[in-house]
Amino acid sequence: MKKILFILVFTASQSFAQQIIPKPNTIKELNGKLTFSQYQVIYDAEFKEEAQLLIDYLDQKNIEQEVNNNESLSTSIYLYKKENQSNNEAYDLTIDKNIEISAHTSAGIFYGIQSLIQLIGTQQKQIELNTVEINDIPRFEWRGMHLDCSRHYFPVQFIKKYIDILALHKMNTFHWHLTDDQGWRIEIKKYPLLTEIGSKRHETMVDKNFEPYIGDNKEYEGFYTQEEIKDIVQYAAERHITIVPEIEMPGHAVAALTAYPEFSCNRTPLDVYTKWGVSDDVFCVKDSTFEFIYDILHEVMDLFPSKYIHIGGDEVPKTRWKVCKNCQAVIKQNQLKDEHELQSFFIKKIDSFVTAQGRNIIGWDEILEGGLAPNAAVMSWRGEEGGIEAAKQKHNVVMTPGSHCYFDHYQGNKKTEPLAIGGYTTLEKVYSYNPIPDALNMEEAQYVLGAQGNVWTEYIPTPEHAMYMALPRLCALSEVLWTYPKQKNYTEFVTRIIQQMKLLDELKINYSKAIYDVDIVTKIQNNTNKIELINTIPNTKIRYTINSTAPNASSAIYSKPILIKETSLIQAGLFDDEKLIGKINVQSINFNKATAKPLELTTLPDKRYSTGGTNTLIDGIVGSIPWTGKEWLGWLGEDMEANLNLTKLETVKKIKISFLKAPESWIHLPSQLYIKTSNDGIRYKTLKTLNEFDIEEIYKNGGAYFTGNIKTKYIKIVAPSRHVIPKGFQGAGEKGWMFCSEIIVE
Ligand code: ACM
Ligand code: ZN
Repeated sequence: MKKILFILVFTASQSFAQQIIPKPNTIKELNGKLTFSQYQVIYDAEFKEEAQLLIDYLDQKNIEQEVNNNESLSTSIYLYKKENQSNNEAYDLTIDKNIEISAHTSAGIFYGIQSLIQLIGTQQKQIELNTVEINDIPRFEWRGMHLDCSRHYFPVQFIKKYIDILALHKMNTFHWHLTDDQGWRIEIKKYPLLTEIGSKRHETMVDKNFEPYIGDNKEYEGFYTQEEIKDIVQYAAERHITIVPEIEMPGHAVAALTAYPEFSCNRTPLDVYTKWGVSDDVFCVKDSTFEFIYDILHEVMDLFPSKYIHIGGDEVPKTRWKVCKNCQAVIKQNQLKDEHELQSFFIKKIDSFVTAQGRNIIGWDEILEGGLAPNAAVMSWRGEEGGIEAAKQKHNVVMTPGSHCYFDHYQGNKKTEPLAIGGYTTLEKVYSYNPIPDALNMEEAQYVLGAQGNVWTEYIPTPEHAMYMALPRLCALSEVLWTYPKQKNYTEFVTRIIQQMKLLDELKINYSKAIYDVDIVTKIQNNTNKIELINTIPNTKIRYTINSTAPNASSAIYSKPILIKETSLIQAGLFDDEKLIGKINVQSINFNKATAKPLELTTLPDKRYSTGGTNTLIDGIVGSIPWTGKEWLGWLGEDMEANLNLTKLETVKKIKISFLKAPESWIHLPSQLYIKTSNDGIRYKTLKTLNEFDIEEIYKNGGAYFTGNIKTKYIKIVAPSRHVIPKGFQGAGEKGWMFCSEIIVE
């Protein structure tokens, strides 16, 4: 056994509790201290790379290596092999007289080192550690993070930094989204135009200016050379991270089709997309397309040794295929039922090609439509249903449901967070996730490999912003994936997150401090509307004002829910002694005749957009635009029927309903609207019928859907959604979303 000695000198320090994220599964405190200012690393030869990474890390912290061993100041860090670990990523770490990390594999040793690095935290020179014995083993084998490098290109140095952060949290999979409608970012030697043309777009849409479209008039470009990719793959491998490349097909392919229009159905010139959303132009299903894709995948597989190759498969409009002679001929020849089966036919061909090379495909859950390819794994993003279905069919699954795993969503108060695509996925929500759905039995649950956080970058133009969206949610997800549920506790996790933020500061990594914001939540009970102000950070106070200036050190301290009896402006912030930490949250409450009154929904909203439940529509909070998930309920291809009981006969002069129009997100106004009234809740009279043009007009002007003067006790609102998105819109032919945030009766 080859042993090498390294010695370092440290001075002065500070101590920490067992500060490790993800939390280890077994921790035994030994109730002592180990202090040292020098160290040596003693390791088994096969752990040389891991030893070197540890030394490099301590070097980066400007801790100098010292050659003169001084036993009284020095501690030994042993990295040694231990046979018979039950899991290839398990490790043991003991801090006592010395530091011992043992594992069956170099991955285990690496994870033990990450735990040690976190225990050292921001200490410099003189290190003090609590003595401890840790026996640790991960819960899931796929602990992933994704990054979309098509919508925005991120430099190689940043990709490495991102990999460092994954590694620090014992994540082991980086899903690299390399191609999409808005840019092709991987060099393919056989098809140079993919990057010469496909990696460039004329400009980029400014914020959410879809209609009318506003571009920034700045050429945008970037791609990774094969040399850069090899370097990154190796860098990741040294950190025990597998990179799963994603090459999108048959949709999200406009960048490729701009370079090689002969593989589209129309064969007409295209432009790399400059706005967000999904194009109708997809790969034409023909032999030459398959040859093209096989060639690309050959080069991709040469670069990436991963077992899985991600082939996309999501959001494939069938518009072109429906009218393409060629695609229709393929449907006929192969006796396919429709274009959904054509999609399945396409994926199955890719599946057998990739399988023949000794790899496996993984695709977004749309690859279930029309029948799953025999060897495909499924990434479940439109909720968990696709994952459940695939696991029941005995296919491997990675869970990435939008509700918990989309880190392009808002993580805090929309008014103070940077512009995001929508949604509301807080740190606590991510932490609460369990990748094994109740719907699976024990045997089926074996097919859930793990989960992954997705960072789509439409609204994330810079590396700093990407880190901000990933962190600290990545920390929460790492604990979801590593730590068994019985060890998890959100309140305790938050104390570790606050420590982790100090380490991120030291590493100069950007992250969101949204956990310091105060949540303003409505609570409806017995026809009253109360406001709760929520923040769970220990040793802080929430101060608030109503209908006044922003809270300061002398404002009221929140102690119990606030009863709302009139239209109000609430402002709240978190204070540490007298100092504001975080940002002030401002919320107006529209108190009206519908507020807190009994409301029933005949059809419940989709699980993905039902955070606040039925009461969302009568809590006085009108959803803001651009939207966040929290204030809105969403129905997918279903109709809303809301039955409101005003509890007594009321004079009604106006009925306003806040719907949302965001066609780029497949969200449309209702196709019709019926407002009905009743005095007994049984027999209803139609008060108002509106068609789509009336609705559009009222939406634009922000007016009321009913204006007049009537008396009623009950109001029924029926709003049919777009069962099918009309031609000319994103997602044409698919089910449309309808979002509603509030019913206001004046
Ligand atoms: C996806 O978000 N379209 C997979
Ligand atoms: Zn075609």
